[in-house]
Amino acid sequence: MNQNQENNVEQINESNEDTSTRRDFVVLTASAVACAGAAAAAIPFVKSLAPDKAVLAVGSTEVDISKIKEGETITVMWRGQPVFIKHRTNAEIEAAKATKLEELVDPQEDDLRVKKGKEKWLVTVGVCTHLGCVPLNNKGDFKGWFCPCHGSHYDTSGRIRKGPAPKNLAIPPYEFLNDNTIKIG
Ligand code: FES
Repeated sequence: MNQNQENNVEQINESNEDTSTRRDFVVLTASAVACAGAAAAAIPFVKSLAPDKAVLAVGSTEVDISKIKEGETITVMWRGQPVFIKHRTNAEIEAAKATKLEELVDPQEDDLRVKKGKEKWLVTVGVCTHLGCVPLNNKGDFKGWFCPCHGSHYDTSGRIRKGPAPKNLAIPPYEFLNDNTIKIG
């Protein structure tokens, strides 16, 4: 290889290094811009995942219970499912309290299914724990609920007493905002 040829080879190598360095710079810059863009795009996306006040409000339901007479049960909707609110008579409360745990399929004291000092009010999810039908209020052998789909009987505490359902009616999260208003959810 003569001197001219050697110079040409060196120039080509230098040129390749320059090109390679420029390409790295372009790639790095593009990556940095892409990351910044992704981060910026992620902020509204993450923000959109947080429920706003309207969504949270739909997640809870306030119910005026002042018009529900003793012995009556009403059904309200909460998060797409029925919820029973039962205004229990003294006889119904006594029957629920007097039931021995050994008699129960899914043993649970009545006291654990109501709020202390508010034993007159029973609030349960209105979905049969067998296969999800909506039981009928104030019906059945135990005067609580009767599920006509396959014959499950619940008592005045919403506990399963007879039939194929394996569990008591579920108690949703709820609180008394005052004597006349319950907030479910
Ligand atoms: S769904 Fe209620 S008894 Fe089967």
